[in-house]
Amino acid sequence: MSARIPWVEKYRPKRIADVAGNDKAKKAFIAWLNSWVRGRPSKKAALLYGPPGTGKTSIAHAAAIEYNLDLVEANASDVRTSQALRTKIFRAASEQSLFGKRGRLILLDEIDGISPREDRGGLEVVKGLINISRHPVVLTANNPWDPRLRSLRELCEMIEFRKLGKRDIIRVLKSICEKEGIECPYEVLDYIARRAKGDLRAAINDLQSIAEGKTRITLHDLEILGYRAEQADMFTIVRYILTARTPLQARGVLSYPSLDYEMLIQWLNENIPYQYSPSLVAIADAYDALSRADVFLGRMKRRQQWSLLTYVLDLITVGVASAREKPPFKFVKYSFPQKLRILAATKYKREAAQRVLKQIAKNTHMSTRKVRLELLPFLKIIDESNPEMMRKILKSLDISKKSFEAILS
Ligand SMILES: Nc1ncnc2c1ncn2[C@@H]1O[C@H](COP(=O)(O)OP(=O)(O)OP(=O)(O)O)[C@@H](O)[C@H]1O
Ligand SMILES: [Mg+2]
Repeated sequence: MSARIPWVEKYRPKRIADVAGNDKAKKAFIAWLNSWVRGRPSKKAALLYGPPGTGKTSIAHAAAIEYNLDLVEANASDVRTSQALRTKIFRAASEQSLFGKRGRLILLDEIDGISPREDRGGLEVVKGLINISRHPVVLTANNPWDPRLRSLRELCEMIEFRKLGKRDIIRVLKSICEKEGIECPYEVLDYIARRAKGDLRAAINDLQSIAEGKTRITLHDLEILGYRAEQADMFTIVRYILTARTPLQARGVLSYPSLDYEMLIQWLNENIPYQYSPSLVAIADAYDALSRADVFLGRMKRRQQWSLLTYVLDLITVGVASAREKPPFKFVKYSFPQKLRILAATKYKREAAQRVLKQIAKNTHMSTRKVRLELLPFLKIIDESNPEMMRKILKSLDISKKSFEAILS
């Protein structure tokens, strides 16, 4: 196994264009660098500020490569504490690069690490450096708004970096997975991206901790990150399937624990037309997949052939999803299956009837099914033609007339 390189280093952007998101900041930064190239910067320093893991240090590194500059880099608090480092940086900043030599980029990282309260000296050093520099100076900070940093801010082009959006994070994670040869379901990337809250460094580190050395990841791997597999609601699951972009994405719903696939069939049955209209072909194909799933499901239960379950699951996810035609993303409101609604509404009645059937079954030593199919039709006839006899029968079965009527309706 090769030595463990942190993926955040391995995949640090090599060019400015590789820095994900923050388009506005990138444009401003490029414009500022170009003004240096032309020799007339309005501000000699740029202060890149914003939350952690958004690309501030990375863009400075990428710019050095892209503009063919020697990067002279130091952590701002080290510059204050180390005389040797200070001397080195000041020399690098003040020397004109000689004709034919490469230019330089001075990077003072994490400038808010200098405490303005205890460290007036530190701030003066930084301001002095900017004033004497003949090269572009880049500063970074998470929070540049301390009032005592005001005079420093005035020397700088202020460029704001914002938290990265979920989509940008997912895109980067996905491309890392591809380069590492790892198959990773969308839900996993989505979870990591949401958990990172805009911090791409955190997201990449999470990904490496669950994915390194594997060729495929599942939701179970997320347990390392304290992931509690949540039971997604049916609306979410139906949406995943009916708007899936790839078969793999549709199949992803199977990683939800204790997915109720029979319930899912009802939900798909109800909602396919909403999502797939106006294409009648798509609707027909989707129902075709669903009906075949139903056939397999019946066979599976009758013959106890549990191996058929994989076909059922494939048909209701990939089968239904691939019936759809483009464009997939019209927004529709899904609804609760009518069949389940009716069953729920009549639940009490059905339960009452079931109780009576059971009672008859017990007293006649038959199964409830047999009672319903073979005995009940005759009881009905007797009830209509000979009420007196029926009264006696009901008495012997220990059932009231009223309860009996519950199973007739
Ligand atoms: N916008 C981005 N595009 C691509 N990769 C990024 C981006 N932001 C962060 N990364 C990844 O995260 C790592 C850390 O990013 P970087 O050092 O640029 O963050 P930062 O903004 O300087 O954070 P801090 O404020 O904590 O110093 C990088 O090495 C890179 O792998
Ligand atoms: Mg940084």
